[in-house]
Amino acid sequence: MTATTSPISKAATTAAPLHPLLAERWSPRALDARHDLTADQLNALLEAARWAPSASNTQPWRFAVALRGSAEYAAVLDGLAPGNRAWAHAASALIVAAAETVGPDGAARPWAVYDTGQAVAHLTVQAQHEGLAVHQLGGFDRDRVAALLAAPGEVTPLVVLAVGRRDDTAQLAEPFASRETAARDRLPLNRLLLPMQPAPAESAAA
Ligand SMILES: Cc1cc2nc3c(=O)[nH]c(=O)nc-3n(C[C@H](O)[C@H](O)[C@H](O)COP(=O)(O)O)c2cc1C
Repeated sequence: MTATTSPISKAATTAAPLHPLLAERWSPRALDARHDLTADQLNALLEAARWAPSASNTQPWRFAVALRGSAEYAAVLDGLAPGNRAWAHAASALIVAAAETVGPDGAARPWAVYDTGQAVAHLTVQAQHEGLAVHQLGGFDRDRVAALLAAPGEVTPLVVLAVGRRDDTAQLAEPFASRETAARDRLPLNRLLLPMQPAPAESAAA
């Protein structure tokens, strides 16, 4: 077991000045098992998600909130992949983020997953503002977690959000301790850019 002994900053090294809420957000695993989420904090996170944009304002995101200590929390934790369960038990809340992929009228919602990711992005930035951390987890048993949701209609769980307060003194086993202090990296900006096909002659002339 390795302890993280001093506060660490994992702020991004950015190619342009970014808002600190964006540059300083990251996904920690060392969480404070004594921290409880307040009702105000939880409301702020969900409210941030609520105001995300979505296709035709369909707002297909759904959230199931389990607070540490509850039976629901234990059930979500049990559904996580072992490598996530190993540290996510210290989260103040485990929130299942799901997408309603078919509307009440039976119409498919092709952007539901996209929209839900966008709502979660809003939530993560608000969490940063609240002094909280969010670690998104795709590693969980989908059928098991879906069975926990009392959801009408076509609701697909996409990620579990481990929400809490980072704790520099929390004990993490390897390989999680090393990952906690590892540098963050991203593709260079130019790798994100796609060249475009030359415009057809007639529209180029127009
Ligand atoms: C959809 C999604 C699924 C993820 N699944 C996991 C996971 O199962 N376990 C984990 O430790 N981290 C998971 N992550 C966290 C990513 O590994 C992390 O966001 C990425 O490495 C970038 O690091 P940063 O968030 O600290 O910038 C997931 C993130 C996303 C967005």
